[in-house]
Amino acid sequence: MKNRSTSSHKPVLLQESLKALAIEPGGRYVDCTLGGGGHAAAILEQSSPGGQLLGIDANPSALEAARERLQGFKESALLVNDNFVNLKMICFEHKFYPVHGVLLDLGLSSLQLNSDGRGFSFQHDAPLDMRFSPSQKVSAADIVNTSSETKLAQIIRAYGEESQSYRIARSIIKERPINSTLQLAELIEKTIGRHGKIHPATKTFQALRIAVNHELEYLESVLKQSIELLGYGGRLVVISYHSLEDRIVKQFMQQEARGCICPPRTPVCICGHTPRLKLLNRKVITPTETELKNNPRSRSAKLRAVECIISQSDSYSTTKDHKFITIAKSNSWLRPAILQKSKVFILAA
Ligand SMILES: C[S@@+](CC[C@H](N)C(=O)[O-])C[C@H]1O[C@@H](n2cnc3c(N)ncnc32)[C@H](O)[C@@H]1O
Repeated sequence: MKNRSTSSHKPVLLQESLKALAIEPGGRYVDCTLGGGGHAAAILEQSSPGGQLLGIDANPSALEAARERLQGFKESALLVNDNFVNLKMICFEHKFYPVHGVLLDLGLSSLQLNSDGRGFSFQHDAPLDMRFSPSQKVSAADIVNTSSETKLAQIIRAYGEESQSYRIARSIIKERPINSTLQLAELIEKTIGRHGKIHPATKTFQALRIAVNHELEYLESVLKQSIELLGYGGRLVVISYHSLEDRIVKQFMQQEARGCICPPRTPVCICGHTPRLKLLNRKVITPTETELKNNPRSRSAKLRAVECIISQSDSYSTTKDHKFITIAKSNSWLRPAILQKSKVFILAA
């Protein structure tokens, strides 16, 4: 019998991701969002012989699912249970750099959406949790039950793009404590009513998930860290699922592909900015009709890809420890104190 956890998530834009990563035999790749290991398995297959993959996921259950799926690649995969905001630190700890490609397939896997108990979905009742990792301190219930009305409204507005955010925040404050997904979803439906096919709680749930997991801040950080790990010609491929994420990815890639970024009408360039990336697709890549039919969850997916056009060998080509330590201590990507040290799963027996 097939394992439910490994078979229920279909990797999105799989062929498009592999093509954008330009996988080569013997290449070294990082999958920052391992999930059930769907993309990772395909990367390992295509990069064989000699390919290596470092896979990261904040969710321990995802790591377990990926570990089962990747059993056939014992010698070539290293799986790390950590947040991708620690990407550079993780790669330095494992001397896994420079790399040929970095993949980010953002958001949630079907495993997380379907599993009871994490509160990501209001399809079934569960505690209002939404943490990617149990080691995180703040849950969605904490935010809902302790924030001021203004703060709650701001979160719902900024991260859910919900125009009724103040009405929702007011009724949450009146109804508190709210501890379950259905309690919150029903309250929102009662407050703003139902118009059209999309459930009225969808935007608020997205907002709370983003706030709990610092998704937008961590995305900005991981994008910067990713390109510093790429060797010359290395690729960064990002699949995003909503406009807030896609805007960050698009702006970051465009900015890094530009030369001067001085304000318009500055007479002489003062920024000294040089392009580090080349855009690989001017138009965003979206799923084909066939994929949409086979995997409706892919409907909002957008893929963007870039290639590194500078040699960064000065910053890390040496493997001498003193050089590595200097880099590790001099940057802002040091592991945030709130996150626990990562758990590493080595597939090799
Ligand atoms: C859409 S799924 C990836 C699915 C995967 N590509 C596959 O084919 O099976 C996204 C995964 O990223 C993980 N994730 C999201 N944000 C993360 C973060 N900041 N750090 C580490 N993992 C994260 C989630 O736990 C989830 O398992």
